[in-house]
Formats: sequence, structure tokens, C-alpha cells
Amino acid sequence: MEWSVLLEAYNWNGEQRFTADRIAADPRAARYLTGWPREGDFGVVAETDAGEPVGAAWARYLPEDEPGYGFVASDVPELTLGVLPGHRGRGHGRALMEALIRAAAEQPVPIARLSLSVEDGNHAARLYSSLGFTRVGRCDNADTMVLDIGSENRPPAI
Ligand SMILES: CC(C)(COP(=O)(O)OP(=O)(O)OC[C@H]1O[C@@H](n2cnc3c(N)ncnc32)[C@H](O)[C@@H]1OP(=O)(O)O)[C@@H](O)C(=O)NCCC(=O)NCCS
Repeated sequence: MEWSVLLEAYNWNGEQRFTADRIAADPRAARYLTGWPREGDFGVVAETDAGEPVGAAWARYLPEDEPGYGFVASDVPELTLGVLPGHRGRGHGRALMEALIRAAAEQPVPIARLSLSVEDGNHAARLYSSLGFTRVGRCDNADTMVLDIGSENRPPAI
């Protein structure tokens, strides 16, 4: 399921720029999922009432020497979001993001921020902005966006 969502996230504009084989063969593209679950990984899956998975959102720490497209720091997990075609526009994407942000706030190791990359023209950017993500940089033809999870989840200052 998550691999098909990752494929959707790369092919968000309808062009089949990536195939499953190409992602598997491209370490940078595959690093959002390879070896799942690793320590610190977390995510959520949306299902129909019949239990059929329709989308997923997940987050993973990536190191500075093997960053994702939305890398800002090694202690900021990068997230991936996708809803399968045929199930879009019904609120699953927003519900997944809200659940992922809640999950981030509940992780045993406190998370101060979440990051992501969204290519120019992808309407997902509006969803992210409405959830409080702000643009902090550019990578190729994409914005890097960050959400501040909130000070209540941060360790107290010494
Ligand atoms: C982006 C994506 C996850 C949104 O999922 P979804 O279930 O369709 O989204 P929702 O129905 O929850 O809509 C959430 C918001 O997205 C935006 N949105 C959704 N569909 C839209 C459309 N066709 N045009 C413009 N904005 C749209 C709206 O801002 C919407 O806000 P609202 O809740 O106030 O209506 C989905 O379109 C998808 O999987 N796309 C391909 C993969 C992808 O682009 N992933 C993100 C990579 S950064």
C-alpha cells in the first residue's frame, strides 16, 4: 500500500514520471520507505468502511548525507502523503494530515517540526498551508514547507 502511495506522490500531476521499478532502483526516491519501519518512523492509513486502504501519510527522519527533497534538519521528519485516484476530493488527504500531525505530537521522542516538499502547481500546497505549514525554502522546482508542532511538545528549556 505505502509503495503505491509513494508512487502517487511522485506522479502527482498525472504523468507517469516514475514507475515502481524506477523508485525501487533510485535510492533517493526510495529512501522515504526503504526498510520500513525504522526506529522513529510513524504514519497513518485511511481505509474505507470495508477496510480497503485508500491513502496514507507517514514521516521519517532522514540523515543530512541522505536527505529527502524536503530536508531541513536531521531531527525534523519528512512526510509523504497520498490518496489513491478515485478516492480524492473527499477529505481523506486532510484527515490523514491531521492524524499524522496528532501522531507527531505523541511520539516518545519530542518532535518540534515536520517538513515536506511540494512541487510547483500541486494543489496539495493549499492543504499544507491551511494546516499551518509555511514555506522555508526551495529545492529544484519545489517548495520546502515546515510545520511548527508547537512549544508544548518541546523539552523544557534549561
Ligand atoms: C494531495 C492529495 C493527498 C489530497 O488528498 P484528497 O483526499 O484529495 O484531499 P482532501 O479531499 O482532503 O482536500 C484537502 C484540500 O486539498 C485541496 N484540494 C483537494 N483537491 C483539490 C483540487 N482538485 N484542486 C484544488 N485543491 C484541491 C483543497 O485545499 C482541500 O481543502 P478543503 O479541505 O478545504 O476542501 C491527493 O490529491 C493526492 O494523493 N495527490 C497525488 C499525490 C500528491 O500530490 N501527494 C502530495 C505530494 S507533496
